[in-house]
Amino acid sequence: MPLPPSAIPAQPLENQPANAARKSPETLALLAQRRSSKLMQLTTPAPSADELEALITLAARVPDHGKLGPWRFVIIDGDGRIRAGAALEQVIRNDEGVDDARREFVRGWFTRAPACVMVVSSPRPSPKVPEWEQILSAGAVCFNLLLAAHALGYAGSWLTEWPTFDERARAALGLNSEERIAGFVYLGAPSQGATERVRADVSSRISRL
Ligand SMILES: Cc1cc2nc3c(=O)[nH]c(=O)nc-3n(C[C@H](O)[C@H](O)[C@H](O)COP(=O)(O)O)c2cc1C
Repeated sequence: MPLPPSAIPAQPLENQPANAARKSPETLALLAQRRSSKLMQLTTPAPSADELEALITLAARVPDHGKLGPWRFVIIDGDGRIRAGAALEQVIRNDEGVDDARREFVRGWFTRAPACVMVVSSPRPSPKVPEWEQILSAGAVCFNLLLAAHALGYAGSWLTEWPTFDERARAALGLNSEERIAGFVYLGAPSQGATERVRADVSSRISRL
């Protein structure tokens, strides 16, 4: 059973003391052992509306130069999954080589998991904060959302897939031309345990100046 959102500690108010460093073996264990799940391994229950709001609130606590909040969240759950899938299907409906099976698959795109949060990178014009930093902040949001979901007891996966790279799909999902999809974070209860995958050899990727 996932933890209730009430298990999430309150955030400090502005200028109240916040934690800059705190020993947390549980956090270390989560970081050392967490894994993404395949969509087919995500089952019901989906995170509730309250849980999604709590998770998104935690996810948004990322480094964000200039406090611009250069991202936004679109929840795709419940029947919203059907509406969003129908919008995607409209995009590809008449594309060359698309048959009925593909149309049906795309129509059910978001029903592959109990819930999804589309994280939108939405850079703000700023003389001070480069767009690159704003995009990186959106990536941090995606992973923070995944971590928060894991800590609440949900499994998840951060995917992009073709809608991210199709301008028509982005528009169909409500993005403007300046925005990009940082990720679809699919969420659900874990239907089975995960196993470890191959990891990049970190030692060969560390150097020192
Ligand atoms: C930005 C981003 C986009 C991704 N998009 C996809 C994708 O479209 N399809 C896919 O199979 N995996 C994709 N992945 C990889 C999955 O998230 C993958 O399950 C994950 O890397 C597994 O590692 P983990 O268990 O350590 O989380 C993406 C990863 C990132 C960071």
